[in-house]
Formats: sequence, C-alpha cells, structure tokens
Amino acid sequence: MKTKIVKINSLAHDLDKIRYVADVIKGGGLAVLPTETVYGIAANAFDSAAVSKIFEVKGRPHDNPLIVHIADLSEISLLVSDFPENAGNLAKNFWPGPLTIILNKAEAVPDAVSAGLNTVAIRMPLHPVIRSIIGQSGVPLAAPSANLSGKPSPTAVRHCIDDLYGKVDVIVDGGFSDIGIESTVVSLDSLPPKILRPGIITLEQLQSVIGEVRFDKSVTSNIPVTERTSSPGMKYKHYAPNAKIILVHGSFQKFARFVSNKSGATALVFDGEEKKLMIPCVSYGVMHNAFTQSKRLFSTLRELDELGAQTVYARVPEPRGAGLAVYNRLLRAAGFDEIYL
Ligand code: TXA
Ligand code: MG
Repeated sequence: MKTKIVKINSLAHDLDKIRYVADVIKGGGLAVLPTETVYGIAANAFDSAAVSKIFEVKGRPHDNPLIVHIADLSEISLLVSDFPENAGNLAKNFWPGPLTIILNKAEAVPDAVSAGLNTVAIRMPLHPVIRSIIGQSGVPLAAPSANLSGKPSPTAVRHCIDDLYGKVDVIVDGGFSDIGIESTVVSLDSLPPKILRPGIITLEQLQSVIGEVRFDKSVTSNIPVTERTSSPGMKYKHYAPNAKIILVHGSFQKFARFVSNKSGATALVFDGEEKKLMIPCVSYGVMHNAFTQSKRLFSTLRELDELGAQTVYARVPEPRGAGLAVYNRLLRAAGFDEIYL
C-alpha cells in the first residue's frame, strides 16, 4: 500500500490536508495521527472492517480492546449506555486531555472495538490535529498507539514511519508528542474505581475529583497472558526494545559500582549521570522529574536498539505520582526483571 505522509503545521493553513485525512477515515482507511500523549493509528470507530484492519496491521491480540476518541462531549451518547455522575466530573476536570474512562458501552459500538467486552474506553484528546480530524470526519475514532504490537509507543513521526509505512493510508506529522506516554486509564465499572494503566494524570488527581480510587493489581505486577483480567492491555509484553533491560533499584553510588564491571552493557540513566560512568550510557530525563522522563522514555528505548545495545541496566524513577507511570512502562520494557542493590 502507498502511504502518504502529510505534515500539518497549522489548522488554519492546512484545512485541505485535514479534509484529505478525514476523507480517508470516512472511506474506511487508516490514518496515523498525533495526539498529546503518543501517536495513534485511527479508524472510524463504527466501521468494523476498518477497525479490524488496525488489529491486523499492528499484530495486536484480538482480546485487547481499543480506545475511542471523541472531540466533543455530545458524541458520547452514541457510545455509552450510561454516563454516571463521576464520569461527568472526571470529564469536566480532565477532558480534553490524557485520561481514558471505561464505561458501559452502547450497542452501536462494534465488538471489534471493545474486544467483546460490554465496556468501552473513551478519551477526548487535547491535540488540535486529531480534534479537528474527528470534527471534519464526523465520526469518533478508534485508535490504539501507532506502534507494532510489543514495540515502544511512537512519540515522533519517524517511529510511526519505521513501524507502519506501507501498511496505512496516511501518516500525519504533528511534531513530537508532548507527554510521551499513553493516557491514564480509569475504569468506573468497579467500585471503587480502578486505574488500569497509570499515566501523567495521577491517582491523587483522580481522587481529588471522585473520592476513593485504587490501582488495579496489573499496574505493578505481572499478569499471565492466559488470565482473564479487567485490564487486557497490561498482560502483554510491552514497550520492549530488542535489548534486554534490567531495572536496578538503589542509589546512584551503588548503581555506579554495580555497572562498573559490566563490560558490553549499556546504562540507561538520568541526565548528567552519564559523565560519571565508564560504560556506554543513554539518558532519559531529569531525576525526580517525571515529565521529562515520560517525554523521552519511548524514544530512548528505540534509540537503544539503534545503538545495538544488548544488555541495558536502567536507573528507576520514583514510583510515585506521575513517576509511577514511567516506572510501569519501564517495568514492562524490562519484562519485570528488577534488581535491588
Ligand atoms: O494515550 C493513549 O491512550 C493513546 C493515544 C493514541 O490516545 N492510546 C493508547 O491506546 O495507548 P492503546 O490501545 O495502545 O491502549 C489502550 C489501553 C489498553 O491497555 C487496553 O487494554 C485498554 O486501554 N482498554 C481499552 N478498552 C478497554 C476496556 N473496555 N476495558 C479495559 N481496558 C480497556
Ligand atoms: Mg499501545
């Protein structure tokens, strides 16, 4: 398939390109689009055949449901069977933005989207490009992250081209993703509500709006692929570069001593630490600053492959607040391989 690459700089000047991409979607095609979290691979959520193509192209397991993206709250009535008060409060506080809410689905949502569950994941993104394409196409968009299944999510158009060129109709270049990791996923299907996937919007932020919220056990533990779980996406190996990653807990001093005799290994460290180590290093953000880490983590994981790294020892972010989301992604990239010094 011939993939068209379209760069959208400004909504006002690039209306023709927005219309072109919206036509691709309306015609049952696939479009890779920028969002503020990571790039997504999008299709008309009501078009089962188009949605099935997403699974095929990504090599995504069929029991892993997709997020439906809307641009306006009025679109939600077609997608959910009820919209409880706490969902309204979350929407008011965090939409548009990096929060996905799991709700009971309306019949019109195809099984291909919800992977046969009776719930559907909804997000209203903030990025102006995807918002205006939803508006122009007039349909909600089913869109998982635009990586091949198992690879780190794409935070730059280059990553999308590497994974999906020739497999989708159009790839829209909207620059680097602002946040760099995927949205927080919260399920209102359970009491108390549960975070199925941590993100930049934290447990504490959600609690300040709707009261008690808990983490699903899959957030920090390894769920067997065969297990039925409320969070299907969390049981698969994810975000994994080709290199073997091992998370190393403990102070920088201990880390430095530990890796000093690991010849042939690479260190994944915080900014500035690379100067103090003798083995090859790649840094992924400022220590104690989860926002810089989330922005760079996935591109750094891809960079490790480009460098041909085989074994990577990684410094671990503080697993609190937004740092927990970075830790969650690293833990999966490492296949839950951790060392405590
Ligand atoms: O930031 C994001 O969320 C990005 C951008 C493109 O919006 N999208 C994204 O989609 O990360 P994806 O498909 O890579 O991850 C969706 C996650 C998966 O873990 C999936 O299992 C979960 O949401 N999910 C979707 N529908 C669900 C449902 N009905 N119940 C439970 N989990 C669901
Ligand atoms: Mg994904």
